[in-house]
Amino acid sequence: MIAIACDHAALDLKNEIINHLQKKGLTCKDFGTNDKNSCDYSDFAYPAAKSVAKGECNLGILICGTGIGMSITANKIKGIRCALCGDCFSAQATRNHNDANMLALGARVTGVGLALKIVDAFIEGVFEGGRHQRRIDKIAEIEKKEG
Ligand code: RB5
Repeated sequence: MIAIACDHAALDLKNEIINHLQKKGLTCKDFGTNDKNSCDYSDFAYPAAKSVAKGECNLGILICGTGIGMSITANKIKGIRCALCGDCFSAQATRNHNDANMLALGARVTGVGLALKIVDAFIEGVFEGGRHQRRIDKIAEIEKKEG
């Protein structure tokens, strides 16, 4: 199950991504927004990120105008590693090396064609463990220290 959320700036891209994932046989849990009225990205990023942190969803995708507000919000949640990506290499690498569990995209930055390829690279990427696990463990230690 993939958590997905957007703000008003990214509704069209979110719907494209949901359709794309459904065609691949993947199911999304949609945390809104579902209209183009101006809204605050954090209201939608938070519950989506919590669902990933709690393990209800195994991955998540967050989209706003730039992807920045969504990624900043998601990364406040313990256990969330949200990567803002505008290219396929980064999307795959963040799964391979960072075990990123959320992807952020900017609907005003990245066109739909590239965004769908980035989503695929992210979904298909596999964590490599090893030295990368040690680095992620250090991030978790920082989370603990910072409370
Ligand atoms: C909304 O205008 C815009 O600020 C938002 O979509 C996002 O880009 C924030 O990071």
